[in-house]
Amino acid sequence: MANSEKLWGGRFTGKPNEIFARFNRSFGFDIRLFEADVQSSIAHANGLHGAGLFSEKEAALVTGSLRTILMLAKDDPDYLKLESEDVHSFIETRLVELAGDLGRRIHSGRSRNDQVATAFRLWLRGEIDQLTKDLRDTQRELIAAAERHRTVVLPGYTHLQRAQPVLWAHWCLAYFEMFERDISRLADVRKRVNTLPLGAAAIAGTSFAVDREAVARELGFERVAKNSLDAVSDRDFTIEFVGGCALIMLHLSRLAEDLIIYASTEFGFVAMGDAVSTGSSLMPQKKNPDALELIRGKAGRVFGHHAGLLAVMKGLPLAYNKDMQEDKEAVFDALDTTRTCLEVAGIVLKHVSVKEERARAAAMHGFLNATELADYLVRKGVPFRTAHDTVGRIVLSAIEHNRELHEMPLEDLRRHSDRIEADVFTALGLEQTLASKAAIGGTAPARVAEALREARALVDG
Ligand code: ARG
Repeated sequence: MANSEKLWGGRFTGKPNEIFARFNRSFGFDIRLFEADVQSSIAHANGLHGAGLFSEKEAALVTGSLRTILMLAKDDPDYLKLESEDVHSFIETRLVELAGDLGRRIHSGRSRNDQVATAFRLWLRGEIDQLTKDLRDTQRELIAAAERHRTVVLPGYTHLQRAQPVLWAHWCLAYFEMFERDISRLADVRKRVNTLPLGAAAIAGTSFAVDREAVARELGFERVAKNSLDAVSDRDFTIEFVGGCALIMLHLSRLAEDLIIYASTEFGFVAMGDAVSTGSSLMPQKKNPDALELIRGKAGRVFGHHAGLLAVMKGLPLAYNKDMQEDKEAVFDALDTTRTCLEVAGIVLKHVSVKEERARAAAMHGFLNATELADYLVRKGVPFRTAHDTVGRIVLSAIEHNRELHEMPLEDLRRHSDRIEADVFTALGLEQTLASKAAIGGTAPARVAEALREARALVDG
């Protein structure tokens, strides 16, 4: 590896300790900001031209060289193998190689402090757009899984105790909603990411007449950071973004947990395909939901990055401190992990099949229609609290006789309330139990079909 010149050698007489130099170096990972940094350097060169520091010809030469650097890096991976402190030093070194003294003028009115914040925001803005597409893809798989099993019913749970029957499609759409919130959260984070720090220089602002608004326009930033101290020391956007990733992971982890439980022999509502399962090295019969367990596990890792960033930032005096270099790996890993997990979750959804009969049978056992009976009494004029109490007693007696509510003779039911008539058995039927949940957001098949159509339109639109 060739050695690049340092950006700050002048006031030093001694050499840096080798181990420290390696410790200090971020080029190994901040190389991911390469394109974004070249782009913002081009905008900065144009800004310097506007401020009269580069003639038109000089600006063209510098921006042309910066584009050449991009090209050379694309053509030859070895071009990037230069022992630089960080990606910013690398680009400046390469620029000086190509443009000589003009290259040595690029850093006028700029510090790596506003430079790194600018490149990071520019890069992250693009990644947020990509992550939004990934979320949409996973939503598409949820819709497809719902459409594959349109009529499937399964028990819904509270406290992991059987509660009321719900459609499988309703379950799928619950996760669709979570990802919808994630998309809107990312859009919100993106607004604040889309602020230009460049021009704040090291801490106090630039002393050249750079038109920051013009630089912002060139880079597609919606606004210019208003305070130079804040501009170079703000990493809220990284914390918000990783917080957004943490919530995506939380949603993925709950989805994983649901499916892990449903795939167990005890529940047996779904079967995981071979494509996303593993076996045991010892127990020949095993088929384990590793894909889902890894998603659940990796959620913890992303939460860790969120907590880590908060901890890195909490005690920092204004403005820039080198601690902040720690932001990159946290954001990179949170993003990579979240993207991979979204993709794997989509693949798992493709390979999950619902065991319709077993799920339906489970939805019909364990008094999941007890609320329905109470509602039936309410419709017959009984106050809900009284109805609740009556049905509680009926359930107790049903347990004693080892029967479901719909298996009880009418006379037995009537012993608890004379409002109960023969039509109660229709009300207690699974179809009616579902169909009655017809208000917006309910699990009635007609509602769910409508919600599914809306969801389709949203992801296709
Ligand atoms: N690589 C650094 C970072 O990621 C930017 C350099 C700013 N360094 C400095 N000593 N002012 O934060």
